[in-house]
Amino acid sequence: MSSSIGIVGIGAMGRNLALNLILKGHTVSAYDIDSDQLQQLQNENSNIRTFTSLGHFVDSLAKPRSILLSVSSHLVDEVLSDLLNFVEKEDSIIDGGNSHYKLTQTRQVLCEEKGIEFVGLGISGGPKGAKTGPSMMFGGKLSVWNRLSSLLQSIAAKSKEGLPCIDYLGDNGAGHFVKTIHNGIEYADMQLIAETYEILKRCNSLGNEEISDIFKKWNQGILSSYLLEISAEILVEKEQDRFLVDLIIDKAAQKGTGRWSSEIGLEYGIPLDLITIAVQQRIISSHKDKRVILANLYESNHSPTSVALEDLASAYLFARLLILEQAFNLIITVNTDQSWKINGGKLVKIWENGCIIRSSLIHQMSKLEEKDFSNLLLNPDYQEIIQHGLPSLQKILSSTITSGVSSPLFSSVMQYFLSITTSRLPSYLIQAQRDYFGSHGFERSDRTGLYRHKWLD
Ligand code: 3PG
Repeated sequence: MSSSIGIVGIGAMGRNLALNLILKGHTVSAYDIDSDQLQQLQNENSNIRTFTSLGHFVDSLAKPRSILLSVSSHLVDEVLSDLLNFVEKEDSIIDGGNSHYKLTQTRQVLCEEKGIEFVGLGISGGPKGAKTGPSMMFGGKLSVWNRLSSLLQSIAAKSKEGLPCIDYLGDNGAGHFVKTIHNGIEYADMQLIAETYEILKRCNSLGNEEISDIFKKWNQGILSSYLLEISAEILVEKEQDRFLVDLIIDKAAQKGTGRWSSEIGLEYGIPLDLITIAVQQRIISSHKDKRVILANLYESNHSPTSVALEDLASAYLFARLLILEQAFNLIITVNTDQSWKINGGKLVKIWENGCIIRSSLIHQMSKLEEKDFSNLLLNPDYQEIIQHGLPSLQKILSSTITSGVSSPLFSSVMQYFLSITTSRLPSYLIQAQRDYFGSHGFERSDRTGLYRHKWLD
C-alpha cells in the first residue's frame, strides 16, 4: 500500500512528526541517510516504512505525493534538487523547517516551473510539540491547502475550543514569514523573562527557588505563558546539590530567525526594536571575553534597590503587550504588501496552543475584532495594562539603574512607548541638519511641499 505522506529527515522533529502522523491513522514513509536512526524509528513504530534510497522512498508514496522536509535550513536546496529528480507533476514538497520566506518564494517558483507544488510550513512547538501536536503556519497554493488540510489538522495542537492550531495564511512564503515573526516574539519574550529573573535575583536578592515560585504564581493568571512555565521549572532543576542554571555559560546562541524579523522590520519601516534588542542582547552575551575584561574595570558595586513584585508584574505585562503590538504591526504591513491572507484572528487561533509563544495574553486576543490588531494600544481592553504598567516600569527602571542591573528590553519598552506617544519629536532638528549639510529639504507646518532653506555657512 502507498503511504499518504513521506518525511525526509528524521532528526528530533521529523521523527516525532512521523510518530504523530502514524498515531493519527496516516500511513507514513520516512527517508534518511542514517540507517541506524531509521532502525530506531522502526523499533518505536514498525508501521512507519523507512528508506535509505530516495527513489524507493518517492515510489512508496500515493500520488499526488506529499513530501515533508524536516531538514536543517542550509540543506533544503540540496535535498530539493535531489528530490526533483524523482517527483512528478502535481506532487507537493513541504518545507517544514525555518526558512527565510524570500528563499521559500524562490523555491516555489523553481518548483512551479516543473509543475511541482512547494509549501513553506512554519512548525512551532519543538520536538515535543511535533509528537503531541504542533502549531503550524501554512503558506502555499490554496489548492494544496485544500488537499492537505485535513491531514495536517489531524496532527496539529488543539485550542481550548478544540480547533486545530493551523491555518492557511496565503501563498508564497506566508507561512515561513509568520513563523519567523513568531520566533522574533519568542526571542523578545525570552529576553524579558531573563531580565525579570535578573531583577529579582540582583535587585531583590532572591534565590532560584523563590523566583521559580513567583513565576509559578504568575502562571496562574494573565501573565501566564509556556515560556514562563518552563522557566519556573528550569530554575529549580538541580544536578547533585547545584542548580543547573548556575552552571550554564551566559552566551545565548541563535540560528537567525530573530535577526530576520529585525531585518524585515527595517525593510518595511515598522518599529521592531523590542525584538531587535533581544537579538542584540544575544550578540552582546556572546562577547563573553570582552565582558569579563570590562567587568573587572567597570562592574558596579551599587547596593541593590529592591522592586515591588506588583510593579514588576505590571511592567512585565505592559512589555509583553508592546512586543505583540510591534509584531502585529509588522505582520499586517507585510501581509498587505504581499497580498497574503493573514489576519489577527487566524494568528491568535494558530498561536493559542502547541507553539512556544502560547500565553494567556494571546488567548485573550481571540476576543478582539480584526480592526483591533492594527493598533492594540488604542483598544480600551489594553489601556488598563498601559496605565498600570507605565508608572510601574518607571519604578523598575529606576531600581535597575541605581542597582547597576542591565535591563535593555524593559528600557526599550519605555523608550518606544515614550516616542510613539509623543506628538512632536525632536526629529524636526534632524530634518534641519539634513537640509543644512545635504540640501535634502524638509516639510513645514506653515506651507506645503518640500522646502530647502538657504543656510548661512
Ligand atoms: C527554533 O525555531 O529553532 C527555535 O525556536 C530556536 O531558535 P534559536 O536557536 O534561534 O533560539
